[in-house]
Amino acid sequence: MSYRITWIEAQRSFEATRGETVLEAARRAGVTLPSECAFGGCGTCRVKLVTGRVHYAEPPPALSPEEAANGYALMCQAHALADLEISTERVLAAPTPPERHRASVVRMEALSRDVTRLVLAIDNNVRLAFRPGQYLNVLLGEAGTRSFSMASGPDETLIELHIRRIDGGYFTQDLLSAMRPGDTLDIGAPLGGFGYHEEDYRPIVMAATGTGIAPLRSMLATLLGSEDVPPIDLYWGARTSDDLYLHEEFAQLAAGREDFRFVPVLSRADDAWSGVRGYVQDAVLADYPDLSEHALYLCGSPVMIADARRAFVAHGASVRYLYADSFTFQHPQCVGAAQ
Ligand SMILES: Cc1cc2nc3c(=O)[nH]c(=O)nc-3n(C[C@H](O)[C@H](O)[C@H](O)COP(=O)(O)OP(=O)(O)OC[C@H]3O[C@@H](n4cnc5c(N)ncnc54)[C@H](O)[C@@H]3O)c2cc1C
Ligand code: FES
Repeated sequence: MSYRITWIEAQRSFEATRGETVLEAARRAGVTLPSECAFGGCGTCRVKLVTGRVHYAEPPPALSPEEAANGYALMCQAHALADLEISTERVLAAPTPPERHRASVVRMEALSRDVTRLVLAIDNNVRLAFRPGQYLNVLLGEAGTRSFSMASGPDETLIELHIRRIDGGYFTQDLLSAMRPGDTLDIGAPLGGFGYHEEDYRPIVMAATGTGIAPLRSMLATLLGSEDVPPIDLYWGARTSDDLYLHEEFAQLAAGREDFRFVPVLSRADDAWSGVRGYVQDAVLADYPDLSEHALYLCGSPVMIADARRAFVAHGASVRYLYADSFTFQHPQCVGAAQ
């Protein structure tokens, strides 16, 4: 038995059987619904169910009971139980299709005890066209892919990545420690639907943990140079002050500006730290107990994103204006081809 799925904004329809998720059915039909992790962890594939019903094999982590009760569903986990009309609630910019490139390592620099700045140049002087907030995949053949967000702006010729070493990690520990300038990497880019939504025109709160700052840095490179951007508060959470590897850069950017505020937050600060302590999501709520007027951009640890999402919605944030880039550990749909 199959059901008809209609995506309102894209004016596209396709069939889905009960045995497949709506996202799987969309892919089979060549319809590109927004998605990232494909296992219910990031919330990118959330849509509003205008008509119809769905069920899940297990409750997906990135959908709160309140969101489900308000008619939202995650397409990567949802199975249709009837014909569906779904809404992404906005017209999405057509994504630039990812392409495979060969890139050379230009420079490497330790930014902290476990974060490396890796600067890449795409061969043949190609400048990568991407939307700030997007990521690339390092293509490792049978070892699959590893995703890293562009930390540089789209106007820059070189691509900058901030890579946190994962203990025992094949790429971030083994390969990266042996890498030298001049080495080459195959990459697939650009990828991902995370980025600034100009049409919201709401005060912006950005919250990141660790290297989750990378896509926000790329977005800020464009936003802080543009006119007519709402005020931005950037909260950056880390354990110790050593982990705040761009503290000076953001503190200087914020100095003397009324439209950009930088709030570093440490969860394991020593006595010398005079700034905000605790978790980044709690720091946001201490400043903004009512988030109903804000647009929120969350990047980094899946645990922070899940907690922040729940807490922010409980404090009035609308899921319609809540965007997340979750650094999930696996993303099996991205393995292969240019991705
Ligand atoms: C869209 C996206 C963008 C990302 N952007 C960045 C970025 O800009 N900078 C950055 O540093 N990271 C980023 N990540 C996370 C990064 O992709 C992983 O840390 C990386 O793939 C680990 O590769 P590895 O080969 O070293 O580890 P693997 O060999 O693949 O894994 C080794 C072990 O570590 C676990 N593991 C893997 N990744 C993580 C993790 N992130 N945290 C904790 N445990 C993990 C695995 O489950 C496994 O047990 C991003 C992830 C996604 C999905
Ligand atoms: S793609 Fe569905 S939750 Fe990540």
